[in-house]
Amino acid sequence: MSNRTFTMIKPDAMKNGHAGAILDRFIKEGFRVVALKQTKLSAEKAGEFYAVHKERPFYGELVSFMSSGVIIAAILEKENAVAAFRKLIGATNPAQAEEGTIRKLFATSLGENAVHGSDSDENAAIEGSFFFSGLEQF
Ligand code: CMP
Repeated sequence: MSNRTFTMIKPDAMKNGHAGAILDRFIKEGFRVVALKQTKLSAEKAGEFYAVHKERPFYGELVSFMSSGVIIAAILEKENAVAAFRKLIGATNPAQAEEGTIRKLFATSLGENAVHGSDSDENAAIEGSFFFSGLEQF
């Protein structure tokens, strides 16, 4: 069990002006910011990040959406971070997300679901190092 997870605030939440509220929620729920940046993924980089979904029917849509605007990428720290963060963001599909979760509050659809959260400690480490060098993590 690791104490770090990786997240992105996705283009829908950025465009809809929810970044501040979402970051505030991360902090209030006790996550410490290890690394954070605003950036924009090229289609190639988004495809690489989500390569695990390459064979899925929604892959093209996902890559196009994730490269459609700026995002905020961050590494967050808390005890049992991956599970705690997934609880905070709620189900992938906002229609199934619990009341009060970030996706329930801010996501619009399954594809445009406001935030990403790593699904395992191993992926948290891989995804974090996709965006941040060791020198950018504090
Ligand atoms: P995320 O947690 O970032 O990881 C993969 C993403 O694929 C997921 O959030 C969804 O936003 C997106 N996605 C789009 N369509 C689907 C689908 N039909 N099933 C699952 N995920 C989907």
